[in-house]
Amino acid sequence: MSDQFDVIVIGSGPGGYVCAIRAAQLGLKVACAEKRATLGGTCLNIGCIPSKALLHSSENFSATQHAWAEHGIVVEGIKLDLARMQARKAEVVNANVRGVEFLFKKNKVAWLKGEARILAAGRVAVAGTEYAAKSIVIATGSESSPLAGVEVDEKRIVTSTGALELDRVPEHLVVIGGGVIGLELGSVWRRLGAQVTVVEFLDRLIPGNDGEIAKHFQRILAKQGIKFRLSTKVTGAELTDTGVTLTVQPVQGGAAEEIAADVVLLSIGRRPYTEGLGLAEAGVALDEAGRVKTDPHFATSVPGIYAIGDVIAGPMLAHKAEDEGVALAEQLAGGAGHVNYEAIPGVVYTWPEVAGVGRTEEQLKAEKIEYRVGKFPFTANGRARAMGCTDGFVKILADAATDRILGCHIIGPEAGTLIAEIVTAIEFGASSEDVARLCHAHPSLNEAVKEAALAVDNRAIHI
Ligand code: FAD
Ligand code: NAI
Repeated sequence: MSDQFDVIVIGSGPGGYVCAIRAAQLGLKVACAEKRATLGGTCLNIGCIPSKALLHSSENFSATQHAWAEHGIVVEGIKLDLARMQARKAEVVNANVRGVEFLFKKNKVAWLKGEARILAAGRVAVAGTEYAAKSIVIATGSESSPLAGVEVDEKRIVTSTGALELDRVPEHLVVIGGGVIGLELGSVWRRLGAQVTVVEFLDRLIPGNDGEIAKHFQRILAKQGIKFRLSTKVTGAELTDTGVTLTVQPVQGGAAEEIAADVVLLSIGRRPYTEGLGLAEAGVALDEAGRVKTDPHFATSVPGIYAIGDVIAGPMLAHKAEDEGVALAEQLAGGAGHVNYEAIPGVVYTWPEVAGVGRTEEQLKAEKIEYRVGKFPFTANGRARAMGCTDGFVKILADAATDRILGCHIIGPEAGTLIAEIVTAIEFGASSEDVARLCHAHPSLNEAVKEAALAVDNRAIHI
């Protein structure tokens, strides 16, 4: 036994590295095992950060082509240097993953390099060396879900990982799955010049988000040139000399059809990753979806073994994993930790952005909760007009009896930033009247949130 720790965290994604740092801050002796060559997990290496770098770059490219002339800025001879764009993305990723390494050193978290395997409660093997720990935290994240008949080679049939690395703009990118990854990365390649077709099994996009917002979102994306095939399933994919031929069919049944693509992005969801961890041998129970089963305190079926992040139930989001990491670290150090799952925002970083927190209208109807709706469009917001970004609206859902805010859904400029106000409101149990009474700076996009809160009581001023 070469070393003894209070906590060994397995996986250095946003769940694992945040948990490790917080536990170390609280005085525990901590190690974090990571098999990837760099720290930061899916999020920093192949997820949130590289996708946002490409979204930002491609948004700038598209705005230079289409939006700036309106502002009186005329740029001639615009061309794409994709190699530079990809190199910049790599620099952004590098700076972030090195940042985590620095934070580990600063907080004296030991990085155990290699694949970890749980031998039993209190015992972990990493790259042939055995370590002991009072507590083990599983934070091994998730991987792209496969689809039968669609064989990923990360060149022509790619997951998000390959879609972030393309070295040329595809002529025709076909995206399987109209969820968050499909629409974010579909947007990137559409802006850079690809023809993009999204094939979605359901009759709507971004399931789980508010239906009205999803409809509006589809209309805006269609105006940007993305084509949609809803209620359609993919039954096979065949590599050809030049690309891929996909076979699709209406979900309700009907004639099969072929679609030619030069790149196919498979983005139909992610599944928990527990390969090689030795969970079955250690007696750690999984649920029906292959996620590590945990109680409300992140404890697994084996005492002393915990789990957080994408590998357990709940939304697969970096900030959810981080908050669980902090809550668990505080608990392991003898304190109390808590995550409010009612107040976890979700953001789609397209243009415009889509953001939501709390219940959707569909959920409130299903739960038979009486509610009132307040809506305010960005066309009536002075700042949005000044920016030339008037697509979208803010929608607030409040309890009909108590006026307590139950949900908020925004499509529009900076939606991902605006939603934070309502996350705070929900966390503090605020009513729509509370938000309506707050002084909001003028002219700001946040005024649209205030006006939507006023609209719950039919007293918006600017519409
Ligand atoms: P992960 O980040 O998946 O990290 C798990 C780590 O564990 C990995 O580094 C893995 O190598 C390591 N590991 C696994 N098994 C072992 C083992 N046996 N031994 C050692 N190490 C091991 N979320 C957002 O909130 N916002 C976004 O904008 C966003 N964008 C995304 C874009 C893309 C393209 C993708 C794919 C995901 C995105 N996500 C986003 C989701 C986000 O990345 C995940 O929710 C988050 O990374 C989950 O964190 P985690 O710590 O649970 O696991
Ligand atoms: P997703 O769950 O968001 O969307 C998958 C889509 O594929 C759904 O619309 C689903 O109906 C559809 N689908 C499923 N099976 C299908 C099939 N056979 N044929 C056609 N369509 C099918 O999953 P996605 O986009 O892969 O993202 C995975 C996870 O990563 C999400 O849970 C998300 O939380 C996270 N993520 C978060 C981001 C963010 O916060 N901005 C960005 C990217 C990913």
